[in-house]
Amino acid sequence: MILGMMTPLPESAGHAESLAGLHLAAESAATIWQAVAAELAAAAASARHPLHLLTVATVDATGAPHARTVVLRGFDATDREVWFHTDIRSPKAEQIGVDGRVALHWYDPARRLQIRIAATATIHHGDALAQAAWRTSQPMSRACYTTGESPGTILETVPPAPPPPATDDDRGLAAFAVICCRFECVELLSLHASGHERIRLRLTGTEPIREILAP
Ligand SMILES: Cc1cc2nc3c(=O)[nH]c(=O)nc-3n(C[C@H](O)[C@H](O)[C@H](O)COP(=O)(O)O)c2cc1C
Repeated sequence: MILGMMTPLPESAGHAESLAGLHLAAESAATIWQAVAAELAAAAASARHPLHLLTVATVDATGAPHARTVVLRGFDATDREVWFHTDIRSPKAEQIGVDGRVALHWYDPARRLQIRIAATATIHHGDALAQAAWRTSQPMSRACYTTGESPGTILETVPPAPPPPATDDDRGLAAFAVICCRFECVELLSLHASGHERIRLRLTGTEPIREILAP
């Protein structure tokens, strides 16, 4: 992963079509991967992008699944990584610390497009990468990490919103973590009245490989 939360794209991603305009079963694997990469890089950069939020599923020590919404903070096509920010005291961070297998999921209802990624997550906490991400975080985002109670603590009442800290206030850094999710495959499902298209991209070889799957 790149310090400073850059989102590098594959070589010709700047020319990639939108995923919505692509016929998944007809396009080359490289073209689809470029479009996916361009979409996720744009989604990380804009809160208005329909893929800015994703669902992350983890498993706990008993094998029970847990899913929740997070903000897509970064995407790296070269290293095939997705990353998000979280509180190191949260159950999800504890779960990932024990078992790094995660499932990532997006759905854009306007385009009727689902993206699924199985990944292995690693936690960056207190290292250079976490500090670099902290420096680029907005005060509103930093405020979440200044609370005294760990996420999931049972409270008597709803707590007030924590005030945005000053830019040089690093108290929240102790709780701040970057979760980096590395993957080898991407699965897409595009719904069409004429026939749903489901494909898997395998990305570990020199060139991406596309497999057409039964929807
Ligand atoms: C729109 C939205 C965005 C969220 N973004 C994040 C996020 O980026 N990171 C995070 O840790 N939690 C985020 N949350 C809260 C999580 O969904 C979850 O409630 C919280 O992190 C506790 O999860 P856990 O108990 O499974 O660890 C978000 C929730 C919503 C509704």
